[in-house]
Parts: sequence; C-alpha cells; structure tokens
Amino acid sequence: MAPRTYNPCSYLPRRLQIVTSLALFILFCIVLFGQSTVDVPYRDEVNEGARRVSAYLPKTPGLPSGLNPFRTPAHSPPPEQANSTSGEARWFSDWKWMNPFSSSITLDENRAVLPPLTTRPPVYTYFDADWYKDESSLESVDRLLLIWRRAWWAQGFKPVILGSAEAMNNPLYAKLASLQLEDELKTDVMRWLAWGNMGTGIMANYVALPMAPHSDPLLAYLRRGDYPQLTRYEGLESGLFNGPKDQINKVIEQAFNAKKPVKAKSVIELLPKETFHIDSNQKAIAFYSSKNINKFYKGIAEKLASDNKDVSREGLRLLPQLIVSHLHTIWQNSFSSGIAVLKPLPDHMFTLVKPAIELARNLSQCTESPQPSSCPPNREKCVPCVSSHPLRISQPMNFRNTSDLFTIGTVPHPYTMASLQHQTDSLTIRFIRRTTKRDEWLLATTKEFSTGTSSFSRIPLIKDAVASDYGSARSLWLTPENLSDENNAKLRQDLAWSLGFPVPTIESTLDSGHSETPVPGPERRPPAPKPEGKVPDPVELVREGTLLGKARLLIKGKGPRNSTPIRDAVEAWNLADTEVWRFVRAWNARRSVERRKWEAEEKAYAGTEGGKGSWSRWFDKDSD
Ligand SMILES: *[C@@H]1O[C@H](CO)[C@@H](O)[C@H](O)[C@H]1NC(C)=O
Ligand SMILES: *[C@@H]1O[C@H](CO)[C@@H](O)[C@H](O)[C@H]1NC(C)=O
Ligand SMILES: *[C@@H]1O[C@H](CO)[C@@H](O)[C@H](O)[C@H]1NC(C)=O
Ligand SMILES: *[C@@H]1O[C@H](CO)[C@@H](O)[C@H](O)[C@H]1NC(C)=O
Repeated sequence: MAPRTYNPCSYLPRRLQIVTSLALFILFCIVLFGQSTVDVPYRDEVNEGARRVSAYLPKTPGLPSGLNPFRTPAHSPPPEQANSTSGEARWFSDWKWMNPFSSSITLDENRAVLPPLTTRPPVYTYFDADWYKDESSLESVDRLLLIWRRAWWAQGFKPVILGSAEAMNNPLYAKLASLQLEDELKTDVMRWLAWGNMGTGIMANYVALPMAPHSDPLLAYLRRGDYPQLTRYEGLESGLFNGPKDQINKVIEQAFNAKKPVKAKSVIELLPKETFHIDSNQKAIAFYSSKNINKFYKGIAEKLASDNKDVSREGLRLLPQLIVSHLHTIWQNSFSSGIAVLKPLPDHMFTLVKPAIELARNLSQCTESPQPSSCPPNREKCVPCVSSHPLRISQPMNFRNTSDLFTIGTVPHPYTMASLQHQTDSLTIRFIRRTTKRDEWLLATTKEFSTGTSSFSRIPLIKDAVASDYGSARSLWLTPENLSDENNAKLRQDLAWSLGFPVPTIESTLDSGHSETPVPGPERRPPAPKPEGKVPDPVELVREGTLLGKARLLIKGKGPRNSTPIRDAVEAWNLADTEVWRFVRAWNARRSVERRKWEAEEKAYAGTEGGKGSWSRWFDKDSD
C-alpha cells in the first residue's frame, strides 16, 4: 500500500472533517495573532525576558556574595541616593546596573540603575596667585589651570588646586620660616608642604597634563589610587610625583636637614637619588616645562624669554592654546579608525542625527594652534592634525566594538522615532500596535552582535557600551530630546569635561580677538559626510524638524492634552528601547551632576583662600 499522509481527522466523517479543520484553524489564528488585540506587554512577560536574558550577562566583578543581581524584585524600592536626580532623569547607582530592566530593581519605571560612581583619586597641583602680578598673565594662567583640571577630570581623576594656605597648615611649615632659602627653592618646598598636608595622592605641576589614551598603563595605575612608595618619573623632573603621606612628610624633613647644594632649586636636588623610585618608561604625561618649551616650541620660548613685558605676556597667552591643540591631537590619534555616527534606521532620521554629525565634524577638524602640526613633548612621534586630512567620519547602521573607533550614538525616545519614521504627529495606540515593530532602534543598532535574538537580551550590550570603563572612553550617547539651542552651551561644557578639551568650533578658529597673533592659515572645517540612505528634500527636512520639536515637547510632558496615554503605550510597546533611552538620559545627567557638585564644593573652598578675587576664575565661566 502506498504511504498515505496521516490526517488526524481522517477517521471522522467527511463533512465533520471539514468543520473540525476549520474550527482548528480559527482557534490557531486566535492563539497566534490574538496577542496584538490584547494589551501590550505584561509585567510577567518582561520578568520572563529578564530571566532569559540573565544567562547572557557578564559576571559582575566584586559582587558581594549572596547578592544576586537577578533575584526577584524586593518589595520596597531602594532608598533615594544623594544628588540622584536632574530634571526628569532619576537614577540609582548600584552593582546591578547590567540587569536588563532597571525597574525590576528600583520598582519605578522612571528610575534607571547606573553603575556605581568610580572614586576619583585626587591629583594635586600647587599654585600661588602672587606669582603673577598683571591681569593679562593671570588670565593666561587661569586658562592653564582650567585646562589642567579638565584634562585630569576627563581621565578619571579629581583635580585639586592647592595654595599657600594648605602649605601653612602643615605642622612642618614652622620650620621653613627659620630657614633662609632662595625663592625658587622655597616655592618648591611650599609645594611639598601643601601636598604633605593633603596626604597620599598625586602631585603634578599645573603644566603637566595627561595626554594619552584612557587605557594607558600609567594612567590606569594612577587611577587605582594606591601608591605604596614615593615615585617620580624620568624626564619629568618635578612634574609628577605620587606616594603615601608619611613618606611625603619624611622627604620634607630630609630636605630641611640636607646640606644645601649652593644652587639647588628644587627639593629633589637636595635628596639622594634613592629617595624615590624612578619610573623610566612613561609616555602618558606631557610636561610643558621651560626645558621642554625651549626644546620643542621655539617660537613660544623666544616670546616667553623676551625682556619686553608685552611679548612675554603674549608667549604666556599662546601656551594654553598650544596645550589644548595637543590634547585634541592625542585624542584624535587614539581613534585612528575615525568617528562613527550611528544611524541605525537611515530614513527620515536626518534631522535626528544632525547634532551628532555636527559634533563629529567639529571633533574631526583641527584646533587652532600657535605652532600647527606640532606634537606634545611626551609623544614626539604623534600624527599631527592636518586640516587637509581630517579624521574619517562614517555613518554605520550598527554599533561596532572597535577599540580605535569613537562612536557617537543618538538614542531617541521610541515616541520620537515612531513619529519621525511614520512622518506623523498623530500616532494612535492602534497604529502603534498594528503597524510599528517593537524595539527597532535597539535591534538595528546591535544587529552585528550574536548575543541572543530578543531585544531584551541586547539591552546589556548597549549599557556596557555606554557606561563601562572601556565603553565610556570610546563613545558618547546623546538623547535628542535634550538637545536644543538653549542647551548648546551647557552641552559643549559637559563635552569638554568628558573629552578633556573644548570641542573646536569654526568660531574659535576664526576668532581673532587678539589680532597681533599670527593666525595660522584658516583651518577648514571638514565637509559634512554624505548622508546614507535617501537624501531628504527641503520639504521633508522642515517636516522632520517640526516633528522632532513636537516630540520633544511631548516627552517633556508639554505636549497636547491626553498625550500621556499614547506615550505610555509607545513605551510599553518598546520596552527595550525605552529602557536604553532612560539609561542614557540618566547616565548623561549623572555625569553632569557629578561635575557640577564637585565644582560647587571646590568653589566654596577656593573662596576661603584669602579672598583673592582671581581664585574663582579657574572655573568655567564661558563654555570654551
Ligand atoms: C567591547 O570590547 C571590550 C574589549 O574587548 C569588552 O570588554 C567589552 O565588553 C565589549 N563591549 C561590548 C558592548 O561588547
Ligand atoms: C540635558 O543636557 C544637558 C547638557 O548636556 C545636561 O547638563 C543635562 O543634565 C541634561 N539633562 C538630562 C535630563 O539629561
Ligand atoms: C560645532 O561647530 C559649530 C560651528 O562651528 C557650532 O555652531 C556648534 O555649536 C558646534 N557644536 C558642538 C557640539 O561643538
Ligand atoms: C547634592 O545634594 C546635597 C544634599 O543632598 C545638596 O545640598 C546639593 O545642593 C546637591 N547638589 C547638586 C549639584 O544637586
């Protein structure tokens, strides 16, 4: 007998067979498609997703045992932490940050879990406003101090400027008064006294700055904050030290008791070589000592050495610009593959990613420099910035984890994205459910990762890229709802502190407030890269702008009446995209709050310093 396809209904009478098959088919349809007519995802579904996802997660290091990041939610929300809100953004800093859904920990849809703040080891410098008598020099030095603080902050440190008050606070200071020391040596001793008063840490000259990739071994070592022995660095003279408190003060006593060589100008010249551990292999710190300036930057050196006061002031005025241009050059050198501006969904996203493209263009141009094409003293073989060969800007659809590629991501709220993608500001819940796909942004962005296929399993990838030590040094993520013209100055300031140098603008290049400076040939801002996907026509562009503006208002809660349900529905439909958006919003806000809080503390402290007006000036008053 020929093999027969087995039909489960074949034992029924023919007519019943048809009816049963039809009934089964309808039942099947209801089961399969019924969900879309029911409500958008359930909490259970999310928890299930989170549980499935936990298998893919990296192990969190240093997690106290017994603390399971994926245990079922506790019954009360974790307590509010200090300074954990900014505008709409709220967060909770915790080791469990890699959990796909923050709300399973905070029990609050709007509170994102961020990684714990890393402690920033202090790096001290010593400065005495009395060194400079005239306004214009003081202004240049204030700029130097701002640049110094920003560069160290961006590399993960807490820069602190010390003055004579700290030195006098050191019990050893009493001895200094009884000694007859040359001015230069006395200043250096004051520096040591101030450091000894603060204790264990790093002491840097205010023209010694980190100029290296974030992962440089010396910077990584210094960031650990543990300095068992007094160390200095070959080639840096007194530019950089680190060590524990007791050894610092021991050195000062030793220096007081030393037989002074007639011409000693610094504490290290008074001491035997063995006092310090000397590290001979560092490339991370650029020290703009007079020796180095004479060697590498002749133009500035001649000006600084001039007997004409105006010319020497001019030399001092050029130095900050030179240092900023070097910070930018070294940053560019660490990203030899260029800048990637993510554009996961190419259509109708032109206006959305425009700020990211603008930023990439600004970053890829050269910073104006009094000595163009020069390198910092610690990296004579750098690749100087040449405006005819700007850094490459690409617009990939997917995020790539490449160590020498800097990524600028734009993370839209799912409502913003749906509105732009479908070119409408009258989204309905029905339309969202019937027509739009879930979590499109996240799925497109992480397409090249093989980790699972559900959008939930991909949330940790983006969280890692945004907030891990490795990821945050190689990327910036913008939430377009928070970018507006009035926010631009604030954004530029925040960027300068996370990158370590101000992002150049065309204005800064052409600004010639001081016309006597030789303005190096006009730097060209590289052209905008060609958009991939369809090039929008002017009408479409206007429409994109309008839609984006409306979405921005709606997200801020200032949309038309009754827009909350549609926003909630879009968020519920796109749980993963919403989670990433909230995470990025909170991450950026916390970065900003952390810095502002620290500045407020420093400011209060600087104010106590003898009431010198100039002391408050190393704070960012302008956005440059
Ligand atoms: C990217 O690569 C680094 C180093 O290889 C790794 O530590 C990190 O987890 C990766 N990030 C992502 C998002 O895969
Ligand atoms: C919005 O952006 C500004 C500028 O970067 C930042 O200071 C602020 O904290 C951001 N606010 C939120 C809620 O992300
Ligand atoms: C980039 O440069 C342009 C013009 O030079 C400036 O208007 C804009 O504010 C800059 N953007 C950023 C983020 O630096
Ligand atoms: C941080 O919190 C403290 C007290 O909780 C408050 O006094 C201070 O103003 C806050 N700072 C910022 C920058 O929000």
